[in-house]
Amino acid sequence: MVSLSPALQARLATPLQIGTVAVHSRVLQSPLSGVTDQVFRRLVRRYAPSSMLYTEMVHAAGVCHVESLPQIMEVDPDEHPISVQLFDCRPDFLADAARRAVAEGADTIDLNMGCPVNKITRKGGGSSLLKDPEMAVAIAKTVVNAVEVPVSVKTRIGWDDDTINAVDFARRMEDTGIQLLTLHGRTRAQGYTGPARWDWITRVKAALAIPVIANGDITSVESAVRCLEVTRADGVMCSRGTLGYPFLVGEIDYFLKTGQCPPQPTAVDRLHCAQTHLRLIAAYKGDRGICQARKHMTWYVKGFSGAAELRDRLCQITTVAEGEEYLQTAIAQLEAAGIHAQVWDRWTPPSPLTQVGEIPASTPEKV
Ligand SMILES: Cc1cc2nc3c(=O)[nH]c(=O)nc-3n(C[C@H](O)[C@H](O)[C@H](O)COP(=O)(O)O)c2cc1C
Repeated sequence: MVSLSPALQARLATPLQIGTVAVHSRVLQSPLSGVTDQVFRRLVRRYAPSSMLYTEMVHAAGVCHVESLPQIMEVDPDEHPISVQLFDCRPDFLADAARRAVAEGADTIDLNMGCPVNKITRKGGGSSLLKDPEMAVAIAKTVVNAVEVPVSVKTRIGWDDDTINAVDFARRMEDTGIQLLTLHGRTRAQGYTGPARWDWITRVKAALAIPVIANGDITSVESAVRCLEVTRADGVMCSRGTLGYPFLVGEIDYFLKTGQCPPQPTAVDRLHCAQTHLRLIAAYKGDRGICQARKHMTWYVKGFSGAAELRDRLCQITTVAEGEEYLQTAIAQLEAAGIHAQVWDRWTPPSPLTQVGEIPASTPEKV
């Protein structure tokens, strides 16, 4: 059974201060490309009313010469606090995109210096900036000077095992005037495999005065508490643990605020959530949303008898009605077997709740 030590509770009792922005939660939802669109963020927000959320990463050059912003950069007026994450290797494009993100409503700007994807690193963006700290400094300084809101950086511990430079890189970033650093405890060479090396996060936290957020392998209340104790980080950021499980950030936040584990969502809760996700994503993105919903559906549907068959069917849906019918049938079967919704309609987070509402139809994506 996990417990919250008085020392940890006291250390995290104050807001997370990101420059001028005070965030009343020490648990953050990470940027996840192809996942953390406005629909997903709304589901996370239902359980985590005060946590910092991030957009998917946005290519800065792609928004500099367009009249209307791409859908992935849209910020709803009721989803604060929110950070827009940008990637590129050209300071002027990043500065321009950052100004546009602030006009759209971003509370902070996050700079991606950790993405391992070849298409991005080959052009000097994402984690390749770990190999070019001078350029990373130029980018961070330019963006810090371009906007009034706080700027943060999300990066990794190094390019590969032979060139781990997390502490030096983080210090250089801090000197540019950024207000928060998130460290994913893996090298670029590791991609997403192998355990996250929290010991490097401990070292970076000890070296910086600005808040440091620990990222990598935060998949439960237990792992979050362990990570906060080991690293002494100022907060944790959840990533893959939230795929098909938008409850995670709220669960950890609830525990850190109350010392209690909230009720675990049942299989029925997850299917209700999948239904809402499907409906909202189709309303927001149309047919493209239904295609994207298929992968989300497979993440929600696990851990009960018949899950594999249901996943197979959901992978092939072409309409919302079809998906809803499959999910509704499964809910009825689980309820007949005595499994009921536990948190879906009854969740009471520790501070004011933002409801999951309808998302207004928006302009089509431009990139
Ligand atoms: C599908 C997927 C998309 C991701 N997209 C982004 C992104 O847009 N920006 C970013 O900084 N990191 C991105 N990441 C990295 C995560 O934010 C996080 O750093 C990484 O998954 C480590 O945390 P974990 O071990 O808890 O998953 C992505 C990861 C995955 C699996």
